[in-house]
Amino acid sequence: MLRMRAREIAAAVGGALQGDDVLVTGSVETDSRLVAAGGVFVAMPGESTDGHRFVDAAVAAGAALVIAERPLEQAVPHIVVDSGVVALGALAADVIRRVREAGALTVIGVTGSNGKTTTKNMLQAILEQHGPTVSPIKSFNNEVGAPMTMLRIDESTRYLVLEMGASYVGDIARLTAMSHPDVGVVLKVGLAHAGEFGGVEATTRAKTEMVQDLDSHHVAVLNRDDERVAGMARSTRARIAWFGTSPGPADEPTTLWAGDVDSTLEGTIATVHRGDESWPLRLRILGEHHVMNALAALTVADALGLDLERAVGALGSLERAERWRMELLEPGGGITVINDAYNASPDSMAAAIRSLAHMTRGAQRRSIAVLGEMGELGALSTEEHDRIGRLAVRVRIDRLVVVGSAAKAIHDAAELESSFGQDTAWVETAEEAEALLRSSLEPGDVVLVKSSLSAGLKDLGDRIGGR
Ligand SMILES: Nc1ncnc2c1ncn2[C@@H]1O[C@H](COP(=O)(O)OP(=O)(O)OP(=O)(O)O)[C@@H](O)[C@H]1O
Ligand SMILES: [Mg+2]
Repeated sequence: MLRMRAREIAAAVGGALQGDDVLVTGSVETDSRLVAAGGVFVAMPGESTDGHRFVDAAVAAGAALVIAERPLEQAVPHIVVDSGVVALGALAADVIRRVREAGALTVIGVTGSNGKTTTKNMLQAILEQHGPTVSPIKSFNNEVGAPMTMLRIDESTRYLVLEMGASYVGDIARLTAMSHPDVGVVLKVGLAHAGEFGGVEATTRAKTEMVQDLDSHHVAVLNRDDERVAGMARSTRARIAWFGTSPGPADEPTTLWAGDVDSTLEGTIATVHRGDESWPLRLRILGEHHVMNALAALTVADALGLDLERAVGALGSLERAERWRMELLEPGGGITVINDAYNASPDSMAAAIRSLAHMTRGAQRRSIAVLGEMGELGALSTEEHDRIGRLAVRVRIDRLVVVGSAAKAIHDAAELESSFGQDTAWVETAEEAEALLRSSLEPGDVVLVKSSLSAGLKDLGDRIGGR
């Protein structure tokens, strides 16, 4: 966090300062346990508890200043605001403005229905080779997480990578108005959170906000293979940098494209092309869908004038995924578990199933998909689960274990479609699934575990994966 006076912070958030005009030297936190000496505590009402109950704890931890939604009895300097969330955003916008004036900050915003966190991690690996880089912890991408990330910058920060998620139309516009990205990346428009949004058109509109306020000296990095994303070129003044899996038309070629994509249990490879030049890309991350995320990150590097060879190299040394994201586990006995049960949308579910089919076919191993509910699909739920069941049969997954009543349509569809040699089972609970797997797994089996977080299969994945 930038060093700022309490009065400057009060002006930024539009509240009155009660108490001394202290100098703030520590980070801004909404969790009192994370407050350090000289920092700011923002007390917000939460879903499970009220941050105002922890003001004493924050003061004891050394908070120099508190931002709260009601007057405080404590003697600590504080600013009263109508909304802690709005104040956080206003402060983040002010900090970004100050750092821009003081230094050479470049802000990159990333949105898309899938792959934001993966792309963010890739950008972090590429950009930190060129200067101090700040990017979100985990998947901080909402109205609280994004400004919290912005507030971690200071005058020395060269690159700020922001993950921008959207629950509603207007969410991303609010985040871009705070941070004014120089580069806006849209990965894809899919069905993630479609139930909340009310359809793919609304999702497209929401994601378009990533590029619609960019200026002509800014860059929009767009997925050429996704027609909804490609269409966003009409909604921006920015220069377009394209990524995709084909060279594109001669008059407007794809800036960076990948061919020769192959995915194995060791990782994913592709050849990245820019005009007549090409580079071999090797990712330890599993699943060919991550090639698009890598291309997006590389296209950002290219747009910023960074050396592509070095950027490709940085991706090669990137650790595998974070936990529960195509996480490779080897519990022994010749069994491999891929735990991807941190979240699931129809697109990421399909991508994971296709990857499982591809990786096992090459290695001549048996493929088993343990699948649970994809949440947040609203009225589309049955249809989308049904589609996944049919896909699993079509790409010849050997064995399907469907878990939970909300996912049963996967099993029903697979049972109707399945052919000789394919097998599908449905169980109510993760415990039953575990018992079924333990009694039937054989050496050589590759087991994909995938569902939304709410379906709770990630712990099942850990158990059969021996973690
Ligand atoms: N281009 C893609 N197409 C399909 N699935 C993808 C793609 N990129 C990532 N995924 C899958 O989507 C899931 C989420 O990946 P990641 O965490 O990177 O996305 P995210 O956009 O940050 O998600 P969230 O909205 O939960 O923050 C993982 O299962 C991952 O393998
Ligand atoms: Mg994320």
